Amino acid sequence: MNSTWVILGATSSMARAFARQLSERGEGVILAGRDMNDLQATASDCTLRGAPVAKAMAFDARKPETFQAILDVMADQDGALNAAVFVGSMPEQADIDADPSMIDGVIQDSFTGPATFLQALAPMMEDRDCGTVIGVGSVAGDRGRIGNYVYGAAKAGFHTYLSGLRNRLNRSGGHVMTVKPGFVDTSMTWGLEGMFLVASPDEIATSLLKGVKKKTNVLYTPFFWRYIMRIIKSIPEPLFKKLSV
Ligand SMILES: NC(=O)c1ccc[n+]([C@@H]2O[C@H](COP(=O)([O-])OP(=O)(O)OC[C@H]3O[C@@H](n4cnc5c(N)ncnc54)[C@H](OP(=O)(O)O)[C@@H]3O)[C@@H](O)[C@H]2O)c1
Repeated sequence: MNSTWVILGATSSMARAFARQLSERGEGVILAGRDMNDLQATASDCTLRGAPVAKAMAFDARKPETFQAILDVMADQDGALNAAVFVGSMPEQADIDADPSMIDGVIQDSFTGPATFLQALAPMMEDRDCGTVIGVGSVAGDRGRIGNYVYGAAKAGFHTYLSGLRNRLNRSGGHVMTVKPGFVDTSMTWGLEGMFLVASPDEIATSLLKGVKKKTNVLYTPFFWRYIMRIIKSIPEPLFKKLSV
């Protein structure tokens, strides 16, 4: 069966690696994001690698008026419709503390923008009785920490949204995979201090495809983050509030 993926936030290096791997498997990619030059370059690369459809499209999570054109293109594709969400922004927590008006944008980027798009795509997937959604959240959404608690809250909201969407789409043969990466070597983490066990975007992309094949519900990637987060989540709140982990 034909299969097409809309990739939101396709300028992320993780998304680019994922799009390349999909193309090599002969799946179509609609590359959605803000930087059209970057998206066009990835689209050309995906075509060379074998994608039957590779199209760059404008998408801004804070501008819902950019969503419909992408949904229309998805509706025109034959076969399974799939989505992978890589959109997210992580400003310095200190900057948000100084200017709380930044909170809305962080929530829109990681949670409400992608969720609004997925709400519109879901009925199309239900009509076709198949399809996969990958939502990239973060281990930061598992527990609020002093260093990035607004970003973490946006990701936690997205995780909960994806859990409900998984329940909904499961009834029509669809699948939703929540992804919680640890540290990945991308522009988001460039220059950040205190990073350890850093994964490459290609490793993450490979783990996503394996997760899709196994219909994993919640994927910690690399895998050991499941155990690290189990420990972090088990720390009692009276102690956790004194830590800077
Ligand atoms: N790197 C890590 O260690 C790590 C760990 C856990 C989770 N994650 C998550 O992984 C995903 C990919 O991040 P990354 O590490 O690859 O960093 P990244 O390069 O900064 O990717 C973030 C992506 O989100 C897009 N984006 C941000 N705001 C947007 C908006 N309003 N509308 C449309 N697109 C928007 C960016 O587009 P522009 O290029 O236009 O800015 C970019 O494509 C993010 O959801 C991030 O939270 C990353």
